[in-house]
Amino acid sequence: MLKIKKLTVQYGPLPALYEISLEVKQGEIVTLLGPNGAGKTTLLLTLSGILKTTQGRIIFEGEDIANLNPHQIVSRGIGHVPQGRHIFPTLSVIDNLMLGAYLHRNQKDEIKKDLEWIYQLLPVLKERSHQRAGTLSGGEQQMLSIGRAIMGRPKLLLLDEPSLGLAPRLMDELFATFREMNRKGLTLLIVEQEIHLSLSISKRGYLLRNGRVIKEGSASNLMEIRDKQIDTYSFSIL
Ligand SMILES: Nc1ncnc2c1ncn2[C@@H]1O[C@H](COP(=O)(O)OP(=O)(O)O)[C@@H](O)[C@H]1O
Ligand SMILES: [Mg+2]
Repeated sequence: MLKIKKLTVQYGPLPALYEISLEVKQGEIVTLLGPNGAGKTTLLLTLSGILKTTQGRIIFEGEDIANLNPHQIVSRGIGHVPQGRHIFPTLSVIDNLMLGAYLHRNQKDEIKKDLEWIYQLLPVLKERSHQRAGTLSGGEQQMLSIGRAIMGRPKLLLLDEPSLGLAPRLMDELFATFREMNRKGLTLLIVEQEIHLSLSISKRGYLLRNGRVIKEGSASNLMEIRDKQIDTYSFSIL
């Protein structure tokens, strides 16, 4: 579904990502691990068209989407839940959700169905649908950010540290929700510091460090390496 080939991205003269290659297959959940500053957010921002590539290819469903603008990328089916919660605090929950459906704004029946599904997945959004988004708790705002991305009807959803700042119980709920979303056909690429939680629902993973992929493998393989701390070089900072 997504094939990244030798992708290089730089902010200034120095690359933040250096010849990254990775793949996400249709129907998979893939985890992207790595210490702070590894380039995880940079990678997701580049996939979403917010940052430009210097070199390399991003093939999504057979077509090169590198350097398309963010709007074009969303309309091809890539959704993004950014790091931090970029919701509109003065708008209601439902208005925030409807903004996510902007590209399909004429398909009223489908929007209604999407909304029903989101309310089923994230019931707290239904309870609070007419409340101002800024009055939600941190965890609820995270749910809203995810709900809004789903309203764009993505095929592939990019999640940047979704568990950040959540209480452990909420984290478990959130990852159960991801599993459910995946069961309904959504492919997920998750950036996480909660390694165990994320790998436990993933099929495969990649470990980034200093802008490079330094390890890739099955989730169980990555978990084992971490548990045994064989590769202290890779995981010592995690
Ligand atoms: N806007 C920016 N301008 C310049 N350098 C940046 C910018 N954003 C991130 N960087 C640098 O790029 C590298 C990767 O950052 P980032 O993608 O945010 O890492 P991660 O999400 O893995 O913590 C870091 O060295 C960071 O300092
Ligand atoms: Mg980041």
